[in-house]
Amino acid sequence: MCDRRGEKSVVRIALLGAPGAGKGTQANAMQERWGLAHVASGDLLRDNVKNDTELGRKAKPYMEAGELVPDDLILDMMEERLARPDAQAGFVLDGFPRTLAQAEALDARLEAKGQQLDAVINLVVSEEEILRRLSGRLICPQCHAVYQAETMPPKQPGICDRCGAKLVQRSDESPEVVRKRLQVYEEQTAPLVDYYRKKGILHEVDGAIGVERVLEKIAAILEEAAKQVGGRGSE
Ligand code: AP5
Repeated sequence: MCDRRGEKSVVRIALLGAPGAGKGTQANAMQERWGLAHVASGDLLRDNVKNDTELGRKAKPYMEAGELVPDDLILDMMEERLARPDAQAGFVLDGFPRTLAQAEALDARLEAKGQQLDAVINLVVSEEEILRRLSGRLICPQCHAVYQAETMPPKQPGICDRCGAKLVQRSDESPEVVRKRLQVYEEQTAPLVDYYRKKGILHEVDGAIGVERVLEKIAAILEEAAKQVGGRGSE
């Protein structure tokens, strides 16, 4: 990501928002547009479940019930992911942190390296719109692209535009599990909005205005963040 002077800035962003708010959609677009590593805890967990790893076997019952996977499992997984080379050039976090303990652990990890989150973007979408979106969501199990059967369909029905894999529905999209996920979000993740507001890095974005327009709002926030990173000196 470059600032206005065209200099390279390492920006570290987190997306907050309820299930279905559009975190994955926007993080994919941010990766394509600015080359930020898209670090999605849900995608990492689903890959582990698909590959039947020890972590996947432990996480699966929580995910299927719409509950959060225990913090210790998530923190180990994220430590490993954030240490990978692509994340050193800036990242966008999608679905992490999700509890106060995760947010504090992330802060501690970044601080130990003289780093910080540059902006946290909260995508705000009504529950009615979320339920409508999730009832028709399709995902690519291969490259993690996201579609919506009615409003954002793939060019060829059931096939991923990006990699050609067969699209699937997630196993945690039944109405009961979606309701549970929304409840868990309100109880355990929504308090992070205040946590980041107090730190002065929270930005609220209306997530119901169409993918391109949301991305433009995010672009303005990223440009500002890159300017501030540039002002602190390159890392
Ligand atoms: P996770 O995969 O993170 O799911 P989530 O947070 O519930 O979010 P979603 O992926 O459902 O929604 P999204 O906001 O990414 O929306 P999307 O872009 O797909 O987590 C799943 C499970 O893993 C959790 O329940 C938990 O068990 C576990 N887990 C994960 N992280 C964890 C953590 N840190 N700690 C503990 N447990 C963890 O968009 C939704 C739909 O809307 C799509 O169809 C899309 O095409 C459409 N859409 C998107 N944007 C727009 C728009 N602007 N206009 C119209 N349609 C849109």
